[in-house]
Amino acid sequence: MTETDKQHERVPPPETGNPSLGESTSLSRRRFLTYLLAITGAIGAGGLAAPLIRYAYPVEKTQVAFRQEVGTLSALEPLGEAIEFDYQSVPAALILLADGKPIALSRVCTHLGCIVGWEPDNDRFFCPCHAGVFSPEGEVLAGPPPRPLPQMNVIVEGDTVFVEGWMEA
Ligand code: FES
Repeated sequence: MTETDKQHERVPPPETGNPSLGESTSLSRRRFLTYLLAITGAIGAGGLAAPLIRYAYPVEKTQVAFRQEVGTLSALEPLGEAIEFDYQSVPAALILLADGKPIALSRVCTHLGCIVGWEPDNDRFFCPCHAGVFSPEGEVLAGPPPRPLPQMNVIVEGDTVFVEGWMEA
């Protein structure tokens, strides 16, 4: 045997006293890599699936309705002057209906967003932009507005009137 042959000759693994240990170590490594690959794949699949699941089952957005004091009942008369205020940056008005029930409405016209004004002499909300007319309850009476004025939940405690969130359309 030449010196080159000796260099290319395979050297057997050292005796360990346990002939199956070399194979066992190899299998463990292979199993470890398999697990690692499976875990990595699962994480990757989860990352891809999460947006699809969120799309299929969207989280309902809940708008926090906070309570805001608006005024007092004793300051109002049926179909009299309104108390104007802003609720969550939306111009709004509180009036008393003919039966004495308080109602709070957005003053943003449902046509193109102009600000409507309460006219106690005419018992109506009027939009100056395109002559939209709304009843005291916010229903469309005339003009181009496609929907009633949005209404708020009104809460009365003693003489104090609060609004808290918007009623379902
Ligand atoms: S914006 Fe009010 S009627 Fe057009």
